[in-house]
Amino acid sequence: MGMYKPKIVAFLCNWCAYDGADAAGRARLEIPSAVVEVRVMCSGQVDSGMVLNAFEAGAQGVMVLGCQPGDCHYKKGNLNAMKRMALLRAVLKPTRIDPRRLRLDWVSAGDGKRYARVAREMVDTIEQLGPATQTPGNEHQ
Ligand code: FES
Repeated sequence: MGMYKPKIVAFLCNWCAYDGADAAGRARLEIPSAVVEVRVMCSGQVDSGMVLNAFEAGAQGVMVLGCQPGDCHYKKGNLNAMKRMALLRAVLKPTRIDPRRLRLDWVSAGDGKRYARVAREMVDTIEQLGPATQTPGNEHQ
């Protein structure tokens, strides 16, 4: 879409999604350069502050990628992440950040294909939405 280059922060859990991203790299699958990977220990560790900080720092989209339900290394981290998602959407609402800019998904260890697909889909979504004009600090505009 023209010169518009979105930046998307991807929080990847160490035990599954990060390995999935690594597998994508090993398989030389194309990962959009817009995606900035941030390794965390567990998707359940990503709190609303981390997500809002990413948006404030200029991210056009944020992905939280963890292990498949049932596979979380810390047992319930990803289930907590699911619950937190609802809270995060409520937090985003007054900032007028479109909730589609935040995506929670699961990528198993070794599943480079899925990682590549999720990353591509997210870039497509963000390109369709266009640049985010609202940031958490200027909700009155
Ligand atoms: S360790 Fe992967 S989601 Fe918890």
